[in-house]
Amino acid sequence: MKYDYVVRELISEEKLKQRLRELGGLLTKDYQDKEPILVCVLKGGVVFLTDLMRELKFDLEIGFITLSSYGESTVSSGRINLNRDLDIDITGRHVIIIEDIIDSGHTLFHLSKLLSDRQPASLRICTLLDKPSRRQAIIKADYTGFEIADEFVVGYGLDYAGKHRNLRNISVIDFK
Ligand code: IMP
Ligand code: MG
Repeated sequence: MKYDYVVRELISEEKLKQRLRELGGLLTKDYQDKEPILVCVLKGGVVFLTDLMRELKFDLEIGFITLSSYGESTVSSGRINLNRDLDIDITGRHVIIIEDIIDSGHTLFHLSKLLSDRQPASLRICTLLDKPSRRQAIIKADYTGFEIADEFVVGYGLDYAGKHRNLRNISVIDFK
């Protein structure tokens, strides 16, 4: 396929696997006997969720929520839409948000507020990637896979205009 950009590897499949095992270990220590709900932010968080949950050695439930902020642009609008809500009650439960990447932070700022209004027992954020240099909203992840520079990345669930979610690694898009 021909694109007007080049895709190059940033984080290999092996490195992702290794880091997921480490994150799984951290979460397994923190969530024994808490039966948390993992709230996956669709669509980007789906590959991370399905791989991460198999590293977790405790009982858990999963839920899905669909938000949108970007459209086809690579710059956050700051306006977040709730496209599809959870089908599970999180009141009094331990909740972990599973997100692909924190960029400006607007998405997680709004989502954290939305979910904390439902009075969970606890609410934490687990993100595969973080671009701290781009932050606009005050938001910090409790568990982070990798901090990356200000580059647009795809693969392992992340897309550019709907494409490249099926890459097994994380790659940078270099616009020509
Ligand atoms: P934020 O609201 O600016 O933090 O953006 C969060 C959302 O924007 C993420 O959940 C992604 O869906 C998307 N996003 C941000 N940066 C990237 C990127 O480098 N590649 C693909 N999607 C991104
Ligand atoms: Mg996302």
